[in-house]
Amino acid sequence: MTTWPDTGATVAARQQFAATLTAGRSNEWSDAFSSIPRHVFVPRFYRQNQEGAWEPVAWAEPGYLKAVYNDEALTTQLDENGIPTSSSSQPSVMLAMLEALDARDGHNAFELGTGTGYNAALLSHRLGDNQVTSVDVDPHLVAAAARHLQAVGFHPTVHAGDGAEGYPGNAPYDRIIATVGLHMIPPRLLDQAAIGAVIIAPLGYGLVRATVTGPGHATGWFLPTPAYFMARRTGPAPPQLDAARKQAPTDTSVPPADLLGRLKFPASVALPGFTSCSWHDNDGELEAAGLWTADGSTAIAHTSGAVRQIGPRRLWDTIEDLAKIFGEEPARDDFLLTITPTRQTVTYADIDGPSWALPTTP
Ligand SMILES: C[S@@+](CC[C@H](N)C(=O)[O-])C[C@H]1O[C@@H](n2cnc3c(N)ncnc32)[C@H](O)[C@@H]1O
Repeated sequence: MTTWPDTGATVAARQQFAATLTAGRSNEWSDAFSSIPRHVFVPRFYRQNQEGAWEPVAWAEPGYLKAVYNDEALTTQLDENGIPTSSSSQPSVMLAMLEALDARDGHNAFELGTGTGYNAALLSHRLGDNQVTSVDVDPHLVAAAARHLQAVGFHPTVHAGDGAEGYPGNAPYDRIIATVGLHMIPPRLLDQAAIGAVIIAPLGYGLVRATVTGPGHATGWFLPTPAYFMARRTGPAPPQLDAARKQAPTDTSVPPADLLGRLKFPASVALPGFTSCSWHDNDGELEAAGLWTADGSTAIAHTSGAVRQIGPRRLWDTIEDLAKIFGEEPARDDFLLTITPTRQTVTYADIDGPSWALPTTP
């Protein structure tokens, strides 16, 4: 079993961190944040240096303790291409999600995305570890999380598999929390939710809080909090950037900066799971933005007003439609999610506002 010292410096750092994090807010979670040692769950993280290369920072190395007990998301795993595949989420976002979850004594909770196990530990502290089930797609992460949970005295159910399948053996769940970006609420999770269950999930670049109103039915508004969670791992198609560059350009009046700024959240609802990138000149000025979706549709918009698109969908046309609706960045909490057994829809502002259908499968 891995154990890490938890005396003096770590205790003081954690208590200061918990006090700052929860200051002026409901202290329902302050006890959990000041009790659970994040450093046990994040013995090492990766940080980008000035050249953009990832460098590990481990226990006892300079900057480690300060970062672990700070309001920072910490990258904890990289794939062979240096793309982050797991992280310990930003504590203030975790707190906002836990508060919105409204977990009460006796509730049975499911987490999609175990990662380090830190959030599962916070939930176990609040509800009791026999009321917590957490699933991650990566068996190595699950094994490490189980070890670290055990080291702090918790034994919730942790399972390796696709979290979109839930974990029927421990259902029904009163509270469901996803800590990985989703395109829709997975139907199998809805099947395993009790009537009245609350679901908190990152959908696009927002966080939705939906209440289950009947079998296969749920509804709820987005929270005002922005969310930038890594996407659920499913293996999307790579972007067709080279092929897009060879297309004949059309004109657009929507600057690429709008995709990266005011339209980012609505675009994530209208084009679930889209990925974007940007190109800058030597002075750091934005030159162009690219975006693509899992079906291989790709668009590149240049600051000159030229757009090149390829694939089954013309993604920039959707961005232009959004630009007509949203003169400025809309508030996330003006968006409503409605789920029926056959359809998941996000509506803006009220039930007569524009709406977007989410994909029908996770
Ligand atoms: C932001 S991290 C979760 C942070 C975690 N809750 C914690 O406290 O450390 C997202 C996690 O989702 C996991 N993940 C990605 N796709 C998944 C899937 N299909 N099913 C379950 N977990 C998945 C990743 O392996 C990663 O560990």
